[in-house]
Amino acid sequence: PVLDATGLLVLPGMIDSHVHFRDPGGTHKEDFLSGTQAALAGGVTTVLDMPNTNPPTDSREHLEEKLAQIAPKAVVDYGLYFGATDTNIEEAADLADRVAAMKLYMGSSTGSLLVTEFPPIYQHFSTFPHQKALVVHAEDEQSLKYFGAQGSKIHNQARPPLSAQIALSRALAIAEKTGRVLHIAHTTTERELELIYEARQKGVRVTCEVTPLHLFLTEEAQQRLGNYGKVNPPLRSSRDREALWRHFDIIDTIGTDHAPHTREEKDQPYEKAPSGMTGVQTMLPLLLNAASEGRLTVEAIVQRCVVNPIRIFALANKGALEIGKDADIVLVNPQEEYEITNESILSKCGWTPFAGTRIKGKVKQVFVRGELSYDDGKILVQPGSGRQVRYR
Ligand code: DOR
Ligand code: ZN
Ligand code: ZN
Repeated sequence: PVLDATGLLVLPGMIDSHVHFRDPGGTHKEDFLSGTQAALAGGVTTVLDMPNTNPPTDSREHLEEKLAQIAPKAVVDYGLYFGATDTNIEEAADLADRVAAMKLYMGSSTGSLLVTEFPPIYQHFSTFPHQKALVVHAEDEQSLKYFGAQGSKIHNQARPPLSAQIALSRALAIAEKTGRVLHIAHTTTERELELIYEARQKGVRVTCEVTPLHLFLTEEAQQRLGNYGKVNPPLRSSRDREALWRHFDIIDTIGTDHAPHTREEKDQPYEKAPSGMTGVQTMLPLLLNAASEGRLTVEAIVQRCVVNPIRIFALANKGALEIGKDADIVLVNPQEEYEITNESILSKCGWTPFAGTRIKGKVKQVFVRGELSYDDGKILVQPGSGRQVRYR
């Protein structure tokens, strides 16, 4: 096909290193086809999928089953996380070269994966290959319960209780002691960035992620969105949000934490409504819009959504438009203005917290490994065209 790229920007395919595609076990919310189609429409050509599926990706058998189930559905490339449990320490280490990373939940969220006791945390940190990414969900269990029991009023306070930093402090201390690499998922507060910065000064090999949700929304949006704005970690104060932008140089990756739930599930009473919002389709457009406002450069986007994820997750064939790497390419129109709508969301649950937002920056064409896969609103590839990534 002949494409006219006049006025368009050429970018490498985005890598979303934090999605929850619900396959297997939650395919009424999302499956690997709908999730990867949403990715494609958002200029994301590689996704790394979290292990809190049902069953969780916490054993060799569950990993093999999941890979077999998703392979015929994917339309972008993918890697999987392995989920840490209290008892799968040896198995996790044995499977390290088959996964993008291990995910360790120090605070509970959707699903059952959780490791809070010192001995298994320490053993995972010391046994999992030290150069391989270990990603922690560092929310403190106590404070989560506190937030949950009190509902939105309490967690909308300007600052979380001090105990919310305990999980992160523990993770940093154990990473220091064991000398391993560590990647902190969804940092949201100024205090977390301070702790990470201080740890780095001491030589701890820690990197960190922020989500577009926390870069673009605050507790004010939570009031407006109700349960649809409920997420772990919660939306924070505008003061914390501005701190994320102010300390943007500390942030290594932007991952969406794309966590779809159906309207039916979200419309339950607050206590019962699950946490999470979609994000994989809107990340690049929102970041391009922020670039158009002068908040960051396009290079800074590519650094955090392509270059750093490739390094941290040791992706072998991916590159930022580099010679010898997969031709994962996105053409965007940085000038095109439009409104984000729920109708445009390809995720099965069909909603976005950004509906009604007018932005500038549109994904026009997407190539995955050289094949034109998305063209101006149309998905051109068949289920199963996506491949598992390889690791260095
Ligand atoms: O809000 C969240 N939802 N936070 C998480 O950590 C998990 C996610 C989900 O899977 O629903
Ligand atoms: Zn998490
Ligand atoms: Zn997540």
